[in-house]
Amino acid sequence: MFVCICNAVSDHQIADAVSAGARDLEDVQQVLKVSTGCGTCRSAAEAIIENTLLQTAAGRNHALHANDIAALVYAA
Ligand code: FES
Repeated sequence: MFVCICNAVSDHQIADAVSAGARDLEDVQQVLKVSTGCGTCRSAAEAIIENTLLQTAAGRNHALHANDIAALVYAA
């Protein structure tokens, strides 16, 4: 699911960037242009980053459920 419409960045791309070593939004923005346009996706992108970091720390490898992503995007 696209999180950042301005730059066509998906939740999976953000999670992949975190899995590859990104630790915050600024790190993710170095590889993806998420939240560099209108900025309405910022809180959703940060939530995905946080969730991926927590899952990595917990040793789990589960992606957010699509309904969770939709709730984050529409709440932003
Ligand atoms: S939706 Fe991400 S910058 Fe506009």
